[in-house]
Amino acid sequence: MHVGLSLIRQELKRLQAEGVDHVYVGDSTLEQMIQASADRPATKSKQATVGDLSSVPTQPVDAKKKNPFPAAPVLQLPEGSQSEQMQWLRQTVLDCSTCREHSGATGKVVFGEGSVEADLFFCGDAPGEDEARSGRPFVDKAGELLEKIISAMGLPRDQVYMANIMKWRPEHDKPFGNRSPTAEEMSFCLPYLQAQIKIVQPKVLIALGNTAISGLLGPDPARRMGAIRGTWQTLEGTPLMATYHPSYLLRRDDSPTKRQAWEDMLEVMEKVGLPISQRQRAYFLPKV
Ligand code: URA
Repeated sequence: MHVGLSLIRQELKRLQAEGVDHVYVGDSTLEQMIQASADRPATKSKQATVGDLSSVPTQPVDAKKKNPFPAAPVLQLPEGSQSEQMQWLRQTVLDCSTCREHSGATGKVVFGEGSVEADLFFCGDAPGEDEARSGRPFVDKAGELLEKIISAMGLPRDQVYMANIMKWRPEHDKPFGNRSPTAEEMSFCLPYLQAQIKIVQPKVLIALGNTAISGLLGPDPARRMGAIRGTWQTLEGTPLMATYHPSYLLRRDDSPTKRQAWEDMLEVMEKVGLPISQRQRAYFLPKV
């Protein structure tokens, strides 16, 4: 295998083992990967190895041909109640020409939903196919699991708020799968998410997975999911719990990982003063 590709593959495997489910691939890296794989002899077995890499979301090859992103929107929330402000923001996002242009190929703009008075604000990475089709966040298998987790915390889905770093599903040229958002895409969408947080004023933010963590806290190449998961961070004064993305939990269907994620939720429950029963405390602990 091309030595560069082999190193990238090794690093991706390491990140995956740490719970990272999306990575950014910059233009120059992407070009080198494309070049490196084009340089390789196209034998069947080697094609299969490229297949490993192609399951890692990348920027679409033609992403650069799209209109460059305009500057991120500057928002001034109108006076009014939380519901009125959220309604205004929703309409602003639905009318956003950049959101419309980029969601056009993949489906609907996915604004976010839930209670504007929620104590808990869950943030995911980017809408997938099901979300883009319905225009709602977290309606896929990962969303079902998230809903179960929220229900295990004693809350119905509509009492929390859910949104994503991205307001649309990043388009790509592969027949299936999702692409992780680029830094440019995330920077464009961030003011919309920040405005949602400002309106809801949750007691706690829950960042689901590495992309949400990086999007909310800012990128940091030295950050490791294994180190930040389960820790309290702060975003403009709001406590933020960094935890696994439910899609990672679906892939890692083992009790220790589930327990780790559940311990993060117990921390959240304690922080916001939700009652915790003995039964809840014991979820996913080994039976004695
Ligand atoms: N994953 C996310 O991060 N967000 C969604 O809305 C769905 C899946």
